[in-house]
Amino acid sequence: MQIQIFQSREALHRAVADRFIAAVKANPQSVLGLSTGSSPLETYANLVRDHQRNGTDYSKIHTFNLDEYVGLSGSHPQSYRYFMNAHLFRHLNIPIAQTHVPTGVGDLEKECERYEKEILEQGGIDLQLLGLGTNGHIGFNEPGTSFDSRTHVISLLKETIEANARFFSGKEEVPTKAITMGIQSIMDARQIVLLAYGSKKAAPIRDAVNGPITETMPASILQNHPDVTLYLDEEAASLL
Ligand code: GLP
Repeated sequence: MQIQIFQSREALHRAVADRFIAAVKANPQSVLGLSTGSSPLETYANLVRDHQRNGTDYSKIHTFNLDEYVGLSGSHPQSYRYFMNAHLFRHLNIPIAQTHVPTGVGDLEKECERYEKEILEQGGIDLQLLGLGTNGHIGFNEPGTSFDSRTHVISLLKETIEANARFFSGKEEVPTKAITMGIQSIMDARQIVLLAYGSKKAAPIRDAVNGPITETMPASILQNHPDVTLYLDEEAASLL
């Protein structure tokens, strides 16, 4: 694991954005794995600014998002499809058919299979962006998820529903299930970047980096990945 610690969140987001811009410049047909939550928002804003200023070309990339809430269609403002369109895709002029987000409505079993197949058809993910849940989840792979898992439906834990209630009008509005790329699907990415900041992420970062590799701490599996870089601020790194 490589670890980079930044003194300001500004510098942190710029560094993550620069890493993605460099990847797309080196290979304009890159397959990028993307995430949602509040962590990547400012990183995405940096990508949008760079695109507007420097015209970085995203027209040939493919993107795969980690997850989606079950029961929310892409037009729901809290769906991850809506989030990605609003904060990133529409600003980068990526042909929408090249942006992949699991569909959280309809036949979910079929959707899981289809999603895995689509990733394979594009040759796998070159560079995967991850955030970190306060309980150590990556994507929506909650503690206890098998390290062998591929895209699947998961029941969200109480703490995740509570943590994500801030995006909804109330806790009752948060879907109780999600469709998520599995831990093995994430580990198959050729390179991984994990972005975490703030004191709430200090304990899960400590456990992911220095703790035992165990399914009760999903992010700990990253210790086994050959090319993973953690981009942290000083608070998130404070227990290392
Ligand atoms: C959600 C997402 C994760 C994300 C996590 C952290 O649960 N499914 O992919 O990493 O939230 O969220 P935040 O970045 O808002 O702390």
